[in-house]
Amino acid sequence: MMRSGRTLLMPNVVLTLAVCATLALGQSQSGNVVTSAKYTSPYDAFMKMNRLPEAFGKDDNGADYWGFLESRLGNQAGRILIKRPAKGFSDDAFRGWLSFIRTSGNATGIGNCVECHRVPDFTDRQKHNIGTAKEPLETPSLRGVAGKKSFFRDGSASTLEEAIARHVAAAQVAQQDKRSGVEVEVGKIALSEREIGEVAAFLRSIQEVPREQFRQYLIDVVIQPVELNFSD
Ligand code: HEC
Repeated sequence: MMRSGRTLLMPNVVLTLAVCATLALGQSQSGNVVTSAKYTSPYDAFMKMNRLPEAFGKDDNGADYWGFLESRLGNQAGRILIKRPAKGFSDDAFRGWLSFIRTSGNATGIGNCVECHRVPDFTDRQKHNIGTAKEPLETPSLRGVAGKKSFFRDGSASTLEEAIARHVAAAQVAQQDKRSGVEVEVGKIALSEREIGEVAAFLRSIQEVPREQFRQYLIDVVIQPVELNFSD
């Protein structure tokens, strides 16, 4: 009798503790997280609600960051549940984010963007040759980039899609002409037309909003199953 009483009780205790922990986390989300957030874009809300790393680890490069996220997201392939702000971070933005941070793979869906546009500021503050100018230029931050009228230092791209497509074209140059000066990291970029659109949708989500709206992003959440297959 004693014995069965105990076994019944134990799971109850554990369950209660687990529920308390969830409530406590929920409360701090609407308070502290909103007031202490350095950045308040839909993207930042997405990272916080999924408890994903918002910055590189010390001495990490883009490949290390991707490696860590790839294992967090279910290693190679599988069905996972992600949360996203119902407004401001679409399905396309989610897929674009994946391409943005993905540094390697077999075919397309590889942006390698995070290697230079390093999170959380979306710049490594280093100079690179991406084929847009004779001399290497400092990586610009991509926070608020969707609000710009034109892109690149010389203003030679008029849409985000065009700016991304220029990086993709430069990847071919880097691969085919080693003396072009275009960096090896650029040569890793491989995105289809559709994926360019998704990355552009993602870039549009790195737009700061007032804190009250940011709070709304954290509250108004969609939980969505996602099928991940990094091998095609
Ligand atoms: C090797 C480093 C490197 C990689 C990788 C890289 N970029 Fe860039 N990016 C730059 C540099 C440097 C510039 C500035 C070029 C210029 O002004 O001519 C730039 C400019 C941009 C711009 C224009 C910003 C502005 O304010 O005008 C966008 C948009 C952009 N990159 C998006 C991306 C995306 C998306 C990816 C991934 C597909 C990516 N970049 C990969 C270095 C990189």
